[in-house]
Amino acid sequence: MKLMDILNINDVVPLIEGKKVVFVTGVTGQDGSHMADYLLTNTDYFIVGGARRLSIKNHENIKHLEHTPRFKLVNFDLSDAHSISKIVEKLKPEYFINLAAQTFVGSSWDFPAQTWECNTTGVIHILEAIRQHKPTCRFYNAGSSEEYGNVAYVPQDENHPSKPRSPYGASKSAARQLVKVYRESYCMLYKVCCLITKVPEEEKSLSLVRLLREWLELKKQYLKVNRFNQLNWVMLKLKEIGVMPKTL
Ligand SMILES: NC(=O)c1ccc[n+]([C@@H]2O[C@H](COP(=O)([O-])OP(=O)(O)OC[C@H]3O[C@@H](n4cnc5c(N)ncnc54)[C@H](O)[C@@H]3O)[C@@H](O)[C@H]2O)c1
Repeated sequence: MKLMDILNINDVVPLIEGKKVVFVTGVTGQDGSHMADYLLTNTDYFIVGGARRLSIKNHENIKHLEHTPRFKLVNFDLSDAHSISKIVEKLKPEYFINLAAQTFVGSSWDFPAQTWECNTTGVIHILEAIRQHKPTCRFYNAGSSEEYGNVAYVPQDENHPSKPRSPYGASKSAARQLVKVYRESYCMLYKVCCLITKVPEEEKSLSLVRLLREWLELKKQYLKVNRFNQLNWVMLKLKEIGVMPKTL
């Protein structure tokens, strides 16, 4: 077995025995590959990346992880509820970070149903799998500024209405609502945003809005990738440090 082979879930199980796992989907993409780097550098978790098996590999973003024993790839597709359920059941991850999506706004006009299938129905599959097999798992789903679409004011905050203008924006907006419903109905630890094992003192006092603004700004400028991922990790851990906002 080569290190960067995409494994079946049953082959991953013996490798993670006794280890705490973070599962990152979309790990061959831009944000997912940076997230894997950040987690491998800054935490002790075993990182399992979800990737689709293609006849020609698209592993350019993660090829530097080839000899990283704490990193493995598992076959993952957002459109298959059964396999997602099996992955959560077998991995029992501490964190499920969903960065996989149909991410091209323009293509969402050409493939509206497929965009919805990946970005919205796919999130239902994940939420259900977590609810059934690992309800204490913390779930992060990537949102998008496209949810705000025709913006009412600048900069946007968490009170800004959802006004998507593309099938992509609508799919992300609907996914956000689903995550909210699951969080409120099942008291689960879900966020549509963002990940740190150590929270710097000054960040404990940042309001969520400020964190979000900083996060979006960093992202926009593509600055300091590690700082961006650190903020994501902070946001996923907010409850633990006692500043979980009511509204997100
Ligand atoms: N990067 C940004 O500036 C930005 C902005 C707004 C929102 N987002 C959101 O953040 C997340 C990550 O974005 P990115 O820029 O890394 O995207 P990307 O296009 O670089 O990566 C997307 C990943 O999802 C995977 N994927 C696509 N369809 C899949 C499916 N059906 N099953 C499994 N995997 C599938 C792709 O193979 C790829 O690895 C996405 O949800 C995106 O919508 C990103």
